[in-house]
Amino acid sequence: MSYPYQIKSFEEYKEVYERSVRQPQNFWADIASNFQWRRKWDTVLEWNFKDLDVKWFKGAKLNITENCIDRHLEKLGNKPAIIWEPNNPDEHYRILTYNDLYNKVTQFANVLKNNGVKKGDRICLYMGMIPELAIAVLACARVGAIHSVIFGGFSARSIADRLQNANAEFVITCDGAFRGGKDIPLKSLIDDALESCPFVKRVIVCTRTRTPISMIKGRDVWWEDEIKKVETLGMAPAVAEEMDAEDPLFILYTSGSTGKPKGVVHTCAGYMIYTTYSFVNAFNYKQGDVYFCTADIGWITGHSYVVYGPLSAGATTLMFEGVPTYPDAGRFWDIVDKHRVNIIYTAPTAIRSLMSFGDEPLQGKDLSTLKVLGSVGEPINEEAWHWFHEKIGKGKCPLVDTWWQTETGGFMISNLANATPERTSWATLPLPGIQPALVDENGNEIEGAGSGNLCIKFPWPSMIRTTYGDHERCKQTYFSTYPNKYFTGDGALRDEDGNYKITGRVDDVLNVSGHRIGTAEVENAINMHAGVVESAVVGYPHDIKGQGIYAYVIYNGNHNAGDEDLIRKDITATVTRIIGPISKPDKIQFVSGLPKTRSGKIMRRILRKIAENETENLGDTSTLLDPKVVEEIKEGKL
Ligand code: PRX
Repeated sequence: MSYPYQIKSFEEYKEVYERSVRQPQNFWADIASNFQWRRKWDTVLEWNFKDLDVKWFKGAKLNITENCIDRHLEKLGNKPAIIWEPNNPDEHYRILTYNDLYNKVTQFANVLKNNGVKKGDRICLYMGMIPELAIAVLACARVGAIHSVIFGGFSARSIADRLQNANAEFVITCDGAFRGGKDIPLKSLIDDALESCPFVKRVIVCTRTRTPISMIKGRDVWWEDEIKKVETLGMAPAVAEEMDAEDPLFILYTSGSTGKPKGVVHTCAGYMIYTTYSFVNAFNYKQGDVYFCTADIGWITGHSYVVYGPLSAGATTLMFEGVPTYPDAGRFWDIVDKHRVNIIYTAPTAIRSLMSFGDEPLQGKDLSTLKVLGSVGEPINEEAWHWFHEKIGKGKCPLVDTWWQTETGGFMISNLANATPERTSWATLPLPGIQPALVDENGNEIEGAGSGNLCIKFPWPSMIRTTYGDHERCKQTYFSTYPNKYFTGDGALRDEDGNYKITGRVDDVLNVSGHRIGTAEVENAINMHAGVVESAVVGYPHDIKGQGIYAYVIYNGNHNAGDEDLIRKDITATVTRIIGPISKPDKIQFVSGLPKTRSGKIMRRILRKIAENETENLGDTSTLLDPKVVEEIKEGKL
């Protein structure tokens, strides 16, 4: 497959970018002509941010799996689509060619149909990083079902919330998942979740860890048995369902500054085009390259840049089941060496963690195949950038810093490997078609160099269309802060040449190890503990995680009184049960009160400063109801 839209130089980028802004419809129509359609579109774009009504390629018909699989079979049928590296390096890796992927996806699509799945049904996937997860995702898309993948670090309660919100009647899971030294009991967590989800009528369980599990009669079936049934029936490979360009493809839940996580909805055509376009351009992907994205499919990075973007581009995508430090801190580099990886895309938190082990884990690892490096998830600090660039890329590989979000579906601001210049810790320039804006505190757009809140002022194909079941919430959250603009929740700097440096979230959302965590959600979970009266959660700088979770807690329970460490453990266990281990607080400080204004609002600014160890410049505290609590909190700082 060749990519006529692959940008080769900075000059070309400038030209293409200019055209993408001047004639967005022609620009995207040209790119869309490189894909396989059942029917072409009537209009390229209709949009209105006020009511949040955005339609790309209206009237077009397609199925994304025909683009990710079928169209490659003739030329790439015997080429690897997925290389799978298991958690345990002694277990054999697997390679699925595009032919294999076609067979497996069409077969599992038949399993879904046999189990009563129809177009538009919601299916929740709670699985480890095994090829069957990618197969299940694609099989859902094949039959037109809307998948909702849930990361393995979420609790039964979080799963139940998501199942209820999506009203999902089908679940696909595994007996368990291997992650480093741990076995995660996925099916058992699903069983707990389903106690409050009686509407779930079918659970398909794939074998991985052979952990003993309970199978409920009439509800639970084994993946392998269902495959045998399809084989016995001699069913022909499932033909792809014809989808409308704007039919939902998936729901992915993400945390915000308030309330429960929102189900971000992405649709078929625009998402497909944009993830493919951005993948090919940011990484300068060349046919035959082995591309390794270390993200889990439970997050947007895994959706867009492990599965859909690379496969639609006919790439070889490497899926890794484990964690960077298992069995030792050289694991990523072993994988690069073993599979002759050309492109590695990972997160600053992983880089910082691996850096801390020094050079020893790099000894004897052949990294010479690497051509391009990528970073995502949080601003990459200079030290991590240089280590990645020098030690891993040997100073010769472009490093792309891709800024984007669950809601944006694909890369928004990033340098393009071998085409546009890189700059340490700067995401640099917008991709073609992306029109960022910086807005000041009064909502006015800033021209030229400056700093402000980062917005996007024109639609792009892979943008969020709605939040599942609550369109109003989507409008309010993203499109009402500044009229006619999508507000990202991030702050940014811009230089005179239009380069962007992302400075981080400006709302009450934390970024812990590249995972998005809402402070309100963590507070709600802490407050569920019987002895807790009230709590406030803020972020603080953490060497490895980027941000750590700092909780101020007013505790009034008797149980364990006097033993603060035990109470901390209880509170942590509560958060793990309510949200999942990914949201565990790193520090819990007990306080007798929280700094509140006379109207009862917690002054988080003060708490943030104390957690960041900036106790000198707390600013004006005179409006506080009880300024004395600040002194007490400062003294008790952990
Ligand atoms: O704050 C930004 C940060 O991650 C947020 C999006 O989180 P999520 O939806 O979970 O998606 C993560 C993977 C795309 C953003 O609002 N972020 C992501 N990438 C970068 C980043 N911050 C700085 N530089 C990046 N490259």
